[in-house]
Amino acid sequence: MIKNNIKESEVTDYKHYLNRRAFIGGGLAITAGVMFSKITNATTINNYLKNKNYGKGLEPHSYEEITGYNNFYEFGTGKRDPEKNAKNFKTKPWNVTVAGECKKTGTFLLEDIIKNQQLEERIYRLRCVEAWSMVIPWLGVSVASVLKKFEPNSKAKYVKFTTLLDKEQMPGQKRPILDWLYVEGLTIKEAMNPLSFFAVGLYGKELPNQNGAPIRLVVPWKYGFKSIKSIVKIEFSETRPINSWQQQAPNEYGFYANVNPKVDHPRWSQKRERIIGRGGFFSPEKRDTELFNGYQAQVAHLYKNLDLAKNF
Ligand code: MTE
Repeated sequence: MIKNNIKESEVTDYKHYLNRRAFIGGGLAITAGVMFSKITNATTINNYLKNKNYGKGLEPHSYEEITGYNNFYEFGTGKRDPEKNAKNFKTKPWNVTVAGECKKTGTFLLEDIIKNQQLEERIYRLRCVEAWSMVIPWLGVSVASVLKKFEPNSKAKYVKFTTLLDKEQMPGQKRPILDWLYVEGLTIKEAMNPLSFFAVGLYGKELPNQNGAPIRLVVPWKYGFKSIKSIVKIEFSETRPINSWQQQAPNEYGFYANVNPKVDHPRWSQKRERIIGRGGFFSPEKRDTELFNGYQAQVAHLYKNLDLAKNF
């Protein structure tokens, strides 16, 4: 566990968290800096809250909600399984292999990959394909800022990401729920879009194991399953990768997985979404699902000539 002077119970909700930040000011920044230096070797954490461009008007869920209701099938299929089963998951040291159509291939320590980068906080709504959502204050770096370092070449049309395979640490991988490895992919243009994010933390703290420590993808205009956790490999390719859920059920899950209220999942509607933790069991609070999860202005151009009903 991370040693700092905020107890988990004190970062329960975002207002409290911000008040506390304002109250202890620089003190927190330094502690956070020490905490993150383990991951990033960066001293720039002090300014991490300055990015106000992302998440205006979004009210984050509590720390407990975000870390107690997870999808991470490597640690079980129940929503509370990852919190329970990922407790002892070892994420340090962590290597990431970079391969394929780029100049700088190799295996790198995570802290070397994001060294000297400023961590930003971005508040994004995670809209799960299961028609629920929650709002999460992530901490991390843009995907573009990382990928550029490896100098992808003109054949790099897609980026494939892979989660660790380790049956001993990840008990879910002993069962044939998916054809392990967990794999995800983006077009290079999607990956380079400024919204695409690598999270290494949330609520100003190191990423909890159940949320995909030590590094996971967050693509806020796509269904949650695209945001692959505990990444060990990044591969640039000329051909489109087949992602795990698409391979499992190609009529239900496509490559794009853009949030789209007009294209239903074959077994349920995507028009609305249940807001985790709001309303009662019998009367859950819901909201209308937005096209591209509300990011139409930033990403619609990526799909200009694409039939979104066919390319779901
Ligand atoms: N990544 C891996 N490796 N394994 C998974 O089972 N589940 C996905 C995604 N990333 C998953 C994964 C799904 S379905 C969702 S909705 C999000 O993670 C959930 O992220 P969260 O638990 O941080 O909210």
